[in-house]
Parts: sequence; structure tokens; C-alpha cells
Amino acid sequence: MQESMQGMKRSKRVAEVTQADVDTELCLMGWCHQQRDLGKIVFMTLRDRSGELQLVVDEESPEELLAKAQKVRSEYVLAVRGKLRMRKDPNPGMETGAWELHVSELRILSPSKTPPFYIEDEDQARESLRLEYRYLDLRRPVMQKNLMLRSKATLFTRNWFAERGFIDVETPTFIKSTPEGARDYLVPSRVFPGKFFALPQSPQILKQLLMVAGFDRYMQIARCYRDEDLRADRQPEFTQLDLELSFASEEEIFDLLEHYMHDLFQEILGVELDLPFQRLSWDEAMCRFGSDKPDMRMGMEIQNINEQVKDLDFQVFRSALDAGGMVGCLVVPGGASFKRRRLDELTDFARSRGAKGLVWMAYEDKLRGSATKFLGQDFMDKLAQDLDANKGDLFLFIADEKYKALDILGRLRLEVGQELDLIDKKAWRPLWVVHFPMFEYDEENQRLIAAHHPFTQPLAEDYADESKDPLDWRANAYDLVLNGYELGSGSLRIFDQEMQNKIFSLIGMSEEEAHERFGFLLKAFDYGVPPHAGIALGLDRLVMLLCGCDNIREVIAFPKVQNSTDLMMSCPDYVDPQQLEELGIAIKPGAQNSESE
Ligand code: AMO
Ligand code: AMP
Repeated sequence: MQESMQGMKRSKRVAEVTQADVDTELCLMGWCHQQRDLGKIVFMTLRDRSGELQLVVDEESPEELLAKAQKVRSEYVLAVRGKLRMRKDPNPGMETGAWELHVSELRILSPSKTPPFYIEDEDQARESLRLEYRYLDLRRPVMQKNLMLRSKATLFTRNWFAERGFIDVETPTFIKSTPEGARDYLVPSRVFPGKFFALPQSPQILKQLLMVAGFDRYMQIARCYRDEDLRADRQPEFTQLDLELSFASEEEIFDLLEHYMHDLFQEILGVELDLPFQRLSWDEAMCRFGSDKPDMRMGMEIQNINEQVKDLDFQVFRSALDAGGMVGCLVVPGGASFKRRRLDELTDFARSRGAKGLVWMAYEDKLRGSATKFLGQDFMDKLAQDLDANKGDLFLFIADEKYKALDILGRLRLEVGQELDLIDKKAWRPLWVVHFPMFEYDEENQRLIAAHHPFTQPLAEDYADESKDPLDWRANAYDLVLNGYELGSGSLRIFDQEMQNKIFSLIGMSEEEAHERFGFLLKAFDYGVPPHAGIALGLDRLVMLLCGCDNIREVIAFPKVQNSTDLMMSCPDYVDPQQLEELGIAIKPGAQNSESE
């Protein structure tokens, strides 16, 4: 049934036809989206990446043509020739609904089995099935649109930075381990059995070395690899828009990125972002929103009520305060109407995030709540006045160690905000979160770890203050946040050997170990290093937001699923024993994971 397209040359894509093509002969190629056989007339819709167009074979057509059209099924690849004409019954819901192609020649270039799901945007097929047949899934108009938008955004980005003096440099993907804090993906060496390359978690060190090399403005759309737990906005391999600049202050970087974001949003969405972007210190972001990537499209900020509750005789609050923690609350507008069941669910939600419990109070004429005995009418009236709450609002209280309470309240804020539709979905609210903590404490290994990465400069005033606990140091590190997503992260880098050694020693890395892992960077510091700084944006996340999606899989052609496998190619997979032999690798008995089978 397979015919050749010889002698036929595609005139244009199907949705590129215009009024000027009416009454002219066109040659079109694509997939049959749908075929409707009315006996003497056959309608087909022809689909390609531009859209769809109706084809007709009718009484005026020769018998053989009609018979052939009757055989066409969905997803057959067709080449057709015919005249474009106006439709008698235009379809205003279809971009090309004013026209149809009256077919005079039809060739079936390739037949198709019945696909395992409809090629429709609304089709509810299981995602695992879609990913197994990703090439069919990608035929869906929304996926075509997403990937085309991604291509446009990428091209725009390259040009935008090139016009501003950035040099696009490719860095290797077989490297020595980088310090972004996730697990590495390893590549065994055949030449040196037992030795491994690591795939870069980011080009961090290499871009710093490019600064040492004098390139002063570097950009790369770089593939990064991290073996970590996946989430909706995380893939094991993902793409960064990676930037590094010499002789640039933090202000210059903010200004550059703000203009880039502004121009990108204007180009792709026709949206005007307000400049400059808002800035919040990490501590303020945590205290007000309980998150280092706050969604600024809604209010409902966290309130610290330590002061208001300090004389209250309520053990739950008392013990948190006595332990130096905090009592925080959210005032949910109109939330007093929440049913008991929903409040129990919210309590479970808080508990699942580590809360000891959740106190809720519906502020109505007659108080209702889980601690009415302790938080009586007088207290609640006073609190409502302090916090500008109204009758009909709901109070949610968490008492705990400060950052734990803030984190849980931050999650409750998002959960409840979504439910009550408090988020202004049309808004874009970018902001910088600055002055992150320099270190975090790793309980498991009982040591400090770098919160961003160990090449980040501490704030000069904190570094100079010998009495200050390094856990209280802030870093010259910044995140670009948009609508609750961490879009990018960057920092001013250390360019002084002594400071670098000090940071390594604070994170428990001996001089030998530092030399073993990053000796090549430290060596470079001996040869004239310009002050430098940079940032990397998650390109997948950026495109996801531009496309209006909530999972980066929707903007990646061939993504992995939750357990980091590729369902289409079925990998990772076992390899030939011969290959392992050559690498000097043996798989330990029992090491195979049955879950991944
Ligand atoms: P960081 O590790 O914060 O910084 O990464 C920068 C940005 O990359 C995106 N991102 C991811 N996107 C999808 N899947 C993942 N698994 C994933 N991990 C990170 C995020 C994040 O903000 N070298 C530093 C940057 C620098 O200091 O210049 C770095 O990689 O959007
Ligand atoms: P309990 O005294 O443990 O029975 O708790 C009384 C109420 O306080 C219940 O509604 C618990 O969910 C809630 N609660 C307990 N501990 C906390 C806490 N640390 N923060 C907020 N609510 C809590």
C-alpha cells in the first residue's frame, strides 16, 4: 500500500494556505488526522506541524480515487494534490476552516496501525503509554506548539546574549565530578579500568576557568546531569542557560537578566514584565512566605505571633516558645467555611511535612476550632484586630522550631491558596531572592555543607566578623524566582586562593582532598584570576512557564519518568557481558533492583 512521492513537491504546510491559494492547485503532505466516509463523499483532515486542513473526495472524483480514500485510516501519511476551494459550511473553530482541498490525486506514502491513543490534546491516555509511544504523543498539537516555542526561545536567547558580547563555548560532558550536591552519573573508562568520568552536574568549574582564560562573557545552553529524586520540575538530565561574567558586579548581573527576561517575555508572549524585579533577602522570603522561592501572585503572608501568644497558657505554643521556636499563623480569607473533613486533611498535610499538629480556628460569631479552650474569644478578637482579620476567616497555627514552622506554613499557604483560587493566574511576579545562607548543617554527616556551591563568596561583612558563627554567614548568592519556581541560581565567585581554602576547610575538606578534587581550579587561581560572577537558569523550567505547563516533561522531547527511566527506549538497560569485561566491571550479586525491571 506504500506509494512513492516521486513527482510531487510539497507546496507548503497545510495551515499555511491563505485566501490567495483559493482556486490554485496545491500539493500537500502530512498525516490523516481523521477520515469520515459518507459513502459517496470522503472527508479527511490532513495534519502537519502547522495545523490541519480538510480534504474532500466527492462525486466529482473518479471511482478509484474514492475507493482509495475509503481505505485511508487515521495516521496514514498522505500526499495529495488538488485545488483549494472555499467551504460551503465554513468551520469557524478551525484555523483553516474557511477552505478545503478538493483532491484530484491521493497517494498513501505510509500506512499506520491503529495508534494506542487518539492524537488529541484532550485525550486522557495514561502518561506511561504516551511516553512509551512518545513520537505519537509528540504529534499532539500542544506538544508541537511547546517544542516549537522552546526552539524559538532558545534561538532568541542565543542571539540576545551574542548581541551583548557573550561567547558561546561548549564544555565537555566527560569531566571530573562537580560540586552541585547531587549524585553524579558516572562513565567508566575502558583505558583505565576502575577510573570514571562524571557527567557534569553543571559546567560550574569550567565556566570559571573560562573566566581565568579571559573570555569575560560566556554563555552556553548546557546539558546537565544529576542523579537525584525527580519532581515535576526536575529531570535527571536537563538544560541550563549558563552564564558567567568577569569584572561584573551583582547589580550588572541583575540588570542583564532582568532585561533578558523582559525581552524574552515580550518576544514570546507579548507580555511586559515590570522592571526592576523585586528583591527579598532569603530571611525575609522565609519569614513572610515560608519559602526561598515564594509565589508572589497572592498575599496571605505568614504572621509571627510570638509576641501575641507569649502569656497564653497553652502547652502547644508554650513549648515551642520555650525551645526558642516560633508560633506562626496564616489568616485564610473566608476560610471559616472549610468543612471539618477538609481541616482534618490539612492537619494531615501539615503532619506529613513534619508538623506536630495544626491548630485551626474558624473566626465566626461562635468560635469553632481545635483549641477553643485555650484561645478564647478575647484572645481571638485581639489577634484578629492585630492581623486585620475578619469574621469568616480561618486561622491556621503552627508552633515549632522557626524554619520548620515557616516551611510548613509556606506549604499550607500554597495549598490553601490554590484551593481558594487566591493566586492571580494571569500575573507574572519575578523576583530576586538574595543573601542566601552560606552553609547548611548536614545532620547525617555532622558537618557544614555549602548551601549553593563552595565557590560562592560569603558576604564580606560576615567573612570579616570573626565572632560570627559560619552557620550565620550569608552568601553573595542569588536566585531568580518566578511564580513559585526557582528559575535560576548564581553567585559572586571566590577568586582568592586563601578564601577558597578557608571555605573548603569549613566544609570539612582537607587540603589534600581539596587538591585531589579541585586542584586544577586552585592551580588556576595562581595565575591571575579576574573577579567573576554568574548564574544558570533552568531552561526547561523557563520554557515550561512560557508554555503555561506545570511539568517540565511537557517541554522536553524525550523525558524520563519518576524513577529516571526512559519508557520509550527502555533504559537504563543491561549491557553485553563483553562490554563489562572490557571495562573491568562486575555486577555484585543481588545488586539488581527488581523495581526497575
Ligand atoms: P543550580 O544547581 O541552582 O546552580 O542550578 C541552576 C538552575 O538549574 C535548574 N535545575 C534543574 N532543572 C531541571 N531539573 C533539575 N534536576 C535541575 N536542577 C537544577 C534550576 C536551577 O535554578 N552552577 C550553578 C549556577 C551558578 O552558580 O552559576 C548551578 O548549577 O532552575
Ligand atoms: P495535642 O495537645 O497534641 O492534643 O494537640 C492539641 C491541638 O494542637 C491539636 O489540634 C493538634 O493538631 C495541635 N498541635 C499539636 N502540636 C502542634 C504544633 N506544634 N503546632 C500546631 N498545632 C499543634
